[in-house]
This record gives sequence, C-alpha cells and structure tokens, in this order.
Amino acid sequence: MNTTMSFRTTSLGETHAFGEAVSELMNPGMTIVLVGGLGAGKTAFTQGVAKGLGIESRVTSPTFTMVATYDVDGRRGIRTLLHADLYRVGSGIEADDLAIGELVEEGAVAMVEWGDVAPDVLGGDQVFVHIETGSEDDERIFHFVDTDDIFNGGLISAAFERWGQS
Ligand SMILES: Nc1ncnc2c1ncn2[C@@H]1O[C@H](COP(=O)(O)OP(=O)(O)O)[C@@H](O)[C@H]1O
Ligand SMILES: [Mg+2]
Repeated sequence: MNTTMSFRTTSLGETHAFGEAVSELMNPGMTIVLVGGLGAGKTAFTQGVAKGLGIESRVTSPTFTMVATYDVDGRRGIRTLLHADLYRVGSGIEADDLAIGELVEEGAVAMVEWGDVAPDVLGGDQVFVHIETGSEDDERIFHFVDTDDIFNGGLISAAFERWGQS
C-alpha cells in the first residue's frame, strides 16, 4: 500500500469493526506495531482484530504477562495471535525475552502495544499504526505506516473505504 494511509473511527464499536476488517488482510508473519498514548485505542483495535480472527476470549492489555497468546483456527495459515504490551518493559528488552520474531515465522501474527520502544527486537513484517485522538470526543485517527509494503494496497483501500481519510 502507499506508505501512509489514514483511517478514522468515531466510537469504540467502530474501532472494533475496523479491527475486524483489518484482520481479514493479515497474514502469518505480520507484526503490527501500535503507537499511541494511554487510552488511544491500541487494545480496542486489537480486540477487533482478535474478534475478526475468530477468537472468543476476552482480550485485555497484557501489561503484566508481556505477551498473551491466543489460538487461531488456521485461517489463511494463521495459528496464533500474539498480543504484547511493552509499556512497562521499555527499550531495554531483548529479542530472547520476547520471542515474537520466531513465533510469527511459525504462523502467528502479532499486535504490539508501545512496540516502538524496541522495534528492532520484534521481528516479523512490521507495519506501524499510529493512533491519535481527533478533535471530537471518541474520534480516533489511525495512521498506517507501511514502509515495506506488507499490506496489499488494492485490498486495503477497497476494504477500508468506510473509514478512509485522504
Ligand atoms: N473511536 C474509539 N476507538 C477506540 N476507543 C475509543 C474510541 N472512542 C472512545 N474510546 C475509548 O478509549 C479507550 C481506549 O482504551 P484502550 O483501547 O485500552 O487504549 P490503549 O490500549 O491505547 O491504552 C476506551 O476507554 C474506549 O472506550
Ligand atoms: Mg492497551
């Protein structure tokens, strides 16, 4: 896709639906690096992705476990969703502590909150998603920075017509 595309939601429910739509474009090996302050919607977006992958368990910020693992039914080769939160970890983290890189190569996709503190250790085909609050209450803007062209551009623009911003 073009290096940066921006999308807008105006409620928690819309962010869940947006995450579901994004999940349909995800393939094994993808690492989504979620950037944005507390309450931006990193976990909410991940909940939508999880739902879209058919995960029924409740997804919350894995602040204390560091990486939570959810089984996926193998759709499009995806067997696992990894959900990490590096907020308390900081940039001192080492690849071995996290093992996300190895796992995504074995059929996982990863959503990493605060992943920008240590992108070098994350591995995977990385797409950065910067989330910011908009001018209205409950408005959120999602900026997808896909420098390595991980998402299929045609697909993404078709699927995201509903939320797209120029
Ligand atoms: N458009 C929106 N998208 C996502 N969350 C929203 C939106 N509008 C309001 N919210 C609220 O913002 C908060 C987002 O929390 P959360 O996803 O846990 O943030 P983070 O993980 O980035 O700290 C929730 O309380 C949610 O209800
Ligand atoms: Mg969170």
